Amino acid sequence: MTPEQVNLVQQSFAKVAPISEQAAVLFYGRLFEVAPGVRAMFPDDMTEQRKKLMATLAVVVNGLTNLEAVLPPAASALAKRRVGYGAKAEHYPVVGGALLWTLEKGLGDAWTPETASAWTAAYGTLSGYMISEAYGGAQAAE
Ligand code: HEM
Repeated sequence: MTPEQVNLVQQSFAKVAPISEQAAVLFYGRLFEVAPGVRAMFPDDMTEQRKKLMATLAVVVNGLTNLEAVLPPAASALAKRRVGYGAKAEHYPVVGGALLWTLEKGLGDAWTPETASAWTAAYGTLSGYMISEAYGGAQAAE
């Protein structure tokens, strides 16, 4: 990611922060609509889950300038836990699609093509790292 892309992701995430609860509701609503099969992996009551997701995203977004320091403590165990939940590597692009969709809805006019590609790059880095931690390097490309 370029420094400009890091800025775009951080600035746009700051705009979503005040509505993070609604953003998380939108996100899971979208995820369960496009991938109904994953609903059963999650708890019935999503209240805590929504908070945990947004808190984890905040850690990663704040750490974008220093990812090699942030990813191992923030995302390695996170990735490995997901294997026990039933998550497969192919779920990551689905989750990424729901995340980008949510940001587009939440940001409105601030969702520019540049912001979209910056988030695509950020999610690609995060998910590539998580897939490789959870399933091994061979699948890291997706
Ligand atoms: C970058 C991607 C992701 C992030 C940042 C993320 C973040 C989180 C966080 C913070 C939690 C709270 C519990 C925990 O820490 O384990 C969680 C739970 C969960 N995640 Fe993810 N996740 C990601 C990708 C995925 C994917 C691809 C799947 C596959 C379907 C998935 C499935 C789950 C499930 C099933 C739970 C609920 C576990 C339970 O409480 O029973 N996650 N996620």
